[in-house]
Amino acid sequence: MNMPIPPSTSTELIFEEIADGLSQKGVAFVDGFFSPDEVTILANRVRKLDSIGQLRQAGVGKQQNFQTLISIRGDQIRWIEEGQSIAGDFFLSRIQELVQYLNSTCFLGIQDMEFHFAKYPVGTFYKRHSDKLQNTNSRKISVVCYLNEDWVTTNGGQLRLYLPQDDGVEKTLDIDPLGGRVACFFSHIEHEVLPTQQERLSATGWLLNEKIL
Ligand code: OGA
Ligand code: MN
Repeated sequence: MNMPIPPSTSTELIFEEIADGLSQKGVAFVDGFFSPDEVTILANRVRKLDSIGQLRQAGVGKQQNFQTLISIRGDQIRWIEEGQSIAGDFFLSRIQELVQYLNSTCFLGIQDMEFHFAKYPVGTFYKRHSDKLQNTNSRKISVVCYLNEDWVTTNGGQLRLYLPQDDGVEKTLDIDPLGGRVACFFSHIEHEVLPTQQERLSATGWLLNEKIL
């Protein structure tokens, strides 16, 4: 029998907070999406990938438009594929639970997802952008899970969201990349990663409204 394991009550509360934030403001950030032990397991996976040379300089645009533009973004990434590691599979299964929750409560029609581990070395950033890809609108929701065990605000590296207001004035929201925290927002919302003074780890990706071929 391949029954999905139902999420625990505390996980459900976290999912609910995410769903509420997304539906009311288009943005949610919630702590405890991963426990401290889980954060360590995931962070160790990124450090391992780094130590064996499996992280690659990220580009701007995927596939044919892939160009390395370090002046725009400085992160190094590795896409998470099923069956590559216990940590990666565990990560994807938690996201899958979130997708099921969002689809059944917010009717978002998420059909697929794509995620990568990311490391921002000291001094790097990602300039203001939206996550919408050039040739498709499939990215519906951006999800960033932070894996920084001992983070302090003075390290920088905040996620800065630019939220359009009804009066036309833009409001910014800065989110510290604290371990266990997840930030979710509609992918058309512009945002940036401020320069980081410490190595900054995350698992970042997108919930898609169509299947990846
Ligand atoms: C991205 C991104 C935000 C973050 O990878 O597209 O904007 O906080 N990441 O890491
Ligand atoms: Mn982004």
